[in-house]
Amino acid sequence: MVIRVTEPKGQDMRRKLVVGNWKMNGSRAANAELLAALKATGPWIAEVALCAPMPYLADVALSLQGDAMAWGAQDCSAFDSGAYTGEVSAAMLAEFGCRYVLNGHSERRAMHAEGDQLVADKAKAALAHRLTPIVCVGETLAEREAGQTDAVVKRQLSAVIHTLGHCISQIVVAYEPVWAIGTGKTASPEQAQAVHALLRAQLKAATEHAGDMKILYGGSVKADNAAALFAQADIDGGLIGGASLKAADFAAICRAAG
Ligand code: PGA
Repeated sequence: MVIRVTEPKGQDMRRKLVVGNWKMNGSRAANAELLAALKATGPWIAEVALCAPMPYLADVALSLQGDAMAWGAQDCSAFDSGAYTGEVSAAMLAEFGCRYVLNGHSERRAMHAEGDQLVADKAKAALAHRLTPIVCVGETLAEREAGQTDAVVKRQLSAVIHTLGHCISQIVVAYEPVWAIGTGKTASPEQAQAVHALLRAQLKAATEHAGDMKILYGGSVKADNAAALFAQADIDGGLIGGASLKAADFAAICRAAG
């Protein structure tokens, strides 16, 4: 008997994306070990990318040459060049073949006072150099408890939509509830899906390509909760912090996205 597998249509065509956010962790030796283990385990059905600290990016790029995994940075400047001590521009990242850049991670919003407009400007700079911005949005615990989740994520995304116009379709969005980051408290698949559906609807009002856009979930994603999160209709993969530092855990999450 011949079983015909029909190609999934519409939103099911979105290939899942799993992004490791190493944050300010690692060393050249530890990174080499992690990369070797991941390269030996992959490739996966899902697309996989690693966002490493700036000084290690060239090492990571070299190590991943010829591998299916992509790499990205954790931030970029809103400017192309100039007197911005300590900053790294999207143009510089692009020179090395960088594919992704995180913009507006909650740790940068909270600890580096990055506001909605700056985050949007950074995403614009990234796109101008053909990097794919992964724009992070998410509410704090106080905001969730005050019933402000929807308003907060909509406001954060709205700034990016207004700044990018029709180019909004070229970004990846990551919903990361701040209370779930590094805390071991994951949003339930239903809680996450509810916000993802809201973000998708907001994108739909801005672009006809919203159905093809990826919206990642982040916040204490682990090997044992990844599959249930990734099974949700509007969750197109994950942004993984802590668990991306251990090859076996990260590989299991990548498999769960397959
Ligand atoms: P976590 O971090 O997986 O350690 O919660 C996610 C993130 O901050 O991107």
